[in-house]
Amino acid sequence: MNHPIEIYDLHKTFANGVIALESVNLEIEEGEIFALLGPNGAGKTTLIKIICGLSTVSSGNISVMGLDIDRHYKEVRKLIGLVPQELHTDMFETVWDTVCFTRGLFGLPKNDRLVQVLLRELSLWEKRGEIMANLSGGMKRRVLIAKALAHEPKILFLDEPTAGVDVELRQDMWGLIRSYKKRGVTTILTTHFIDEAEELSDRVGIINKGKLVLVEDKKSLVSKLGKKQMILKLSSPISYLPEIFNEFKIEIKNSGEILEYTMPDTDQGERVSKLIKMLETQEIHFKNIETIQSSLEDIFVRLVSKK
Ligand SMILES: Nc1ncnc2c1ncn2[C@@H]1O[C@H](COP(=O)(O)OP(=O)(O)O)[C@@H](O)[C@H]1O
Ligand SMILES: [Mg+2]
Repeated sequence: MNHPIEIYDLHKTFANGVIALESVNLEIEEGEIFALLGPNGAGKTTLIKIICGLSTVSSGNISVMGLDIDRHYKEVRKLIGLVPQELHTDMFETVWDTVCFTRGLFGLPKNDRLVQVLLRELSLWEKRGEIMANLSGGMKRRVLIAKALAHEPKILFLDEPTAGVDVELRQDMWGLIRSYKKRGVTTILTTHFIDEAEELSDRVGIINKGKLVLVEDKKSLVSKLGKKQMILKLSSPISYLPEIFNEFKIEIKNSGEILEYTMPDTDQGERVSKLIKMLETQEIHFKNIETIQSSLEDIFVRLVSKK
């Protein structure tokens, strides 16, 4: 079985010489929510535009549902719903017509029932007769989502769906993305909000300066790369630790009030008990212990700042 999307050795250099994507290889799994996470200018929009046929590759191969995106441009476009990063629609068209128009564009018959359901789900029903120019930014974004879904795509792309939207729309959007996953839609979203990737995705790809630095199952990413630390608040400050503690990775912080122990991945607790016993023997007393697991955010910052 083909993956819904397969990308092999993709390169993109713009006419002005900017290298936007370099050696990108990626396979998207059927029905997953894949979050493409990266700072501004990383190449997220370029990658989406290329898959959707809105920009060309410099080299490489891409297929969507087993179809080459160049040779089968029209069929591929029909399989995809795209919510673009920038809002551009005909400002004098009504919400209803804007959404209906998309079906016609893909050669599909009218389906008023479906458009009605979409508009209701997106809280746009009351606004159906309004022209686009009269809508707020958040409402316009909702219309773009309805538009992307009007031709019942198998694959949905959302390019920074929640950039500049209010909290309420953000929650609605997340709910909607989850509900489409339940209906079997494969979703690729780009974001520079780490919490969004953490909240929604099954897998995360981190892109930086045109390179896909990492692709990983979200849960294993956090457990594999996330540092686990134990923070001990001491009863009285110390200025140094005896040499026998050199076998542990410990830092003294807050003028000697805190010991920060970074646990090795393999630690099942034995090292922790040993450390605590040794502290007791050395009469270094503590009043509080806390363990912390680093989040996707820490991992992201580490990976992106390293490059
Ligand atoms: N049409 C274009 N012509 C030249 N350079 C471009 C064009 N579009 C994007 N770029 C450049 O390509 C890089 C990636 O941009 P983009 O894909 O928009 O990043 P992101 O969506 O991750 O913020 C940036 O350096 C950007 O300036
Ligand atoms: Mg972008």
